[in-house]
Amino acid sequence: MIREGKTLFLKTAQPVACAMCHGEQGDGKGIMGAALVPPPRNFTCGVMMKDIPDGQLFWIIKNGSPETGMMSFAGLPEEQVWQLIHYIRSLAK
Ligand code: HEC
Repeated sequence: MIREGKTLFLKTAQPVACAMCHGEQGDGKGIMGAALVPPPRNFTCGVMMKDIPDGQLFWIIKNGSPETGMMSFAGLPEEQVWQLIHYIRSLAK
């Protein structure tokens, strides 16, 4: 699950791989994310991530976050969204 999520995150998610904004390490330092306000989420911040429920992560990946650079990935099958959520959770320290 986590390995599949990692591939999606780094490379295969369409239209744009998550890492372009969220960074290869998931720390929010991707090249496309640099200019965004608010900045992309830092998924390695365990203190913040533990307060965000799975349902919210799921909803935002599917629908995007209005007024921010976080686009909608409505085309991703639910299974892949869950793979991404497991991967993102694995980054939190
Ligand atoms: C074009 C840049 C961009 C891309 C590509 C992108 N994101 Fe984001 N993402 C953002 C930004 C900016 C935010 C911060 C939005 C906010 O502060 O509300 C964000 C927020 C999020 C959040 C919200 C966490 C919370 O606060 O509830 C999740 C989850 C997320 N992104 C997952 C993903 C995943 C998974 C992908 C790939 C399928 C992805 N993002 C691709 C820019 C991007």
